[in-house]
Amino acid sequence: MTRKGNLILYGTQTGTAEDLGGELQEALEEMGVKAGCENVFDIEMSRLSEVERVFVLISTWGDGDPPDDAEGFCEWLEECDSGALNGLEYGVFGLGDSGYEQFCECGKFVDAKMEAAGGRRILERVDCDIDIDGPFAAWLELVKQSFGVPAIS
Ligand SMILES: Cc1cc2nc3c(=O)[nH]c(=O)nc-3n(C[C@H](O)[C@H](O)[C@H](O)COP(=O)(O)O)c2cc1C
Repeated sequence: MTRKGNLILYGTQTGTAEDLGGELQEALEEMGVKAGCENVFDIEMSRLSEVERVFVLISTWGDGDPPDDAEGFCEWLEECDSGALNGLEYGVFGLGDSGYEQFCECGKFVDAKMEAAGGRRILERVDCDIDIDGPFAAWLELVKQSFGVPAIS
């Protein structure tokens, strides 16, 4: 089956990753790129066998744990067969706080598991600390460039 379309997924406890996912969706829309934006809790994992590209924004909670609503997604990734995400292009933006020992652990986990399942990382993972605006703006530029927008000089 040919992969088609773009998806933004967020895993959040207090809404930050959701807000950023919405900003990413808007920015892509402005350049004519359509992408659904959904909570990882709400998607059927089979969607990941259908879409061409996925961007995951996910925070870390507890002591290196996923947000509550992202537990199922992480369990699914943990058990994912090695070729399950073959051909999927992806990028991960992890949110966290370097004051915690397990800094951005969930983003790191998702990024590694997606690769292990056959996904192709098209952007380096970002481990974003509490100052979010700068790293997010930089990542947004890279996401746009991945769709062919020239870099800002
Ligand atoms: C109780 C609590 C536990 C947290 N645990 C971690 C952690 O283990 N590692 C980390 O990097 N950040 C941790 N954080 C920081 C959050 O990941 C960070 O605030 C993030 O921006 C929240 O994003 P969200 O609103 O999308 O869930 C924790 C925050 C709180 C309040």
